[in-house]
Amino acid sequence: MTTLQAIGVIGAGTMGNGIAQVCAAAGFPVVLQDLSQAALDRARKTMEGSLARQIKKGTLTDTQAADTLARITTATTLDPMADRDIVIEAIVEKLEVKAGILGKLDQICPEQTVFASNTSSISLTQLAAASAHPGRVIGMHFFNPVPVMQLVEIIRALQTTDAVSDAVTALTRAIGKTPRVSKDSYGFIVNRLLAPQINEAINCVYEGLATAEDIDSMMKLGANHPMGPLALGDLIGLDVVLNIMETLYQGFDDPKYRPSPLLKQMVHAGYLGRKTGKGFGSYPAA
Ligand code: CAA
Ligand code: NAD
Repeated sequence: MTTLQAIGVIGAGTMGNGIAQVCAAAGFPVVLQDLSQAALDRARKTMEGSLARQIKKGTLTDTQAADTLARITTATTLDPMADRDIVIEAIVEKLEVKAGILGKLDQICPEQTVFASNTSSISLTQLAAASAHPGRVIGMHFFNPVPVMQLVEIIRALQTTDAVSDAVTALTRAIGKTPRVSKDSYGFIVNRLLAPQINEAINCVYEGLATAEDIDSMMKLGANHPMGPLALGDLIGLDVVLNIMETLYQGFDDPKYRPSPLLKQMVHAGYLGRKTGKGFGSYPAA
């Protein structure tokens, strides 16, 4: 089985910086790429904050945190992906944008480089079709916040080879996460269940049934969820939730996945949740 060592992460947003952090914390050298230096600087600050929490808890030493950060180099172009064993993409949830990146990586990386997408919902089979070597494409779906959540959903495209699937499963274990495999289908398993629940909670706000705060508190007190669905939507990013719902709605061609009109309005208004400081809650520090 191929052993994946040198890791590239494309996109340093909510997910990309967490993925880079956990890979580096497990000892792997990481190149983290985004379009601007400002995005990379923000990512470093987030990773420093996350590592500081672990130091405070006593689960990480100062030296381990410094070593983790030292294993992460940053870039604003894709060229440093040329010597990576695996490139994990975590950019916007749009098929055409992700497909464009795969096409560029085909030009830069050798044929054996594995291309993993952290897509939340897009068909890996469609995505793989955009690569000159579709057998190397796979879904590696992390959960937010990445340093905390155990699961990585592994999604095999119709074209994914056994060798790529085995290597990515081994890497998932090596970074301390728990792999579970799903066949390729829009939203896979977790988001097919989770995103409609968030969407339906937004419809409850839209219909004026209760406040966002009360709906969240009902799901915490009545269903033992660690956080309510509206707070979770804010954590994920409401733009990401809308993109997932649109993929489910259009992909299955089924009205049960129709995005809430209020979800669309929130995104149009730029109220995306934690990352913009306002969603169903307010986040002044963002
Ligand atoms: N980095 C490192 N550690 C972190 C962290 C971060 N960014 N965020 C939280 N933690 C740690 C804390 O240090 C704390 O650790 P201990 O329990 O060991 O002390 C623990 O996580 C809990 O944190 P807090 O006490 O601050 O807060 P909390 O108890 O309210 O938990 C939470 C926060 C972990 C986010 C919890 O509310 C939770 O699990 N929420 C649900 C998250 C969820 O469902 N995620 C999946 C989203 S869907 C997705 O990701 C897929 C997609 O495609 C959209
Ligand atoms: P985000 O908006 O927080 O970050 C995306 C980052 O990608 C931004 O920093 C942006 O500048 C960068 N980017 C955009 N186009 C780029 C390009 N062409 N090249 C390099 N960088 C580019 O998004 P996110 O929430 O981290 O989501 C990223 C992916 O992960 C999406 O596919 C999303 O569906 C998936 N995902 C998100 C969550 C979540 O909870 N937010 C959970 C699991 C999976």
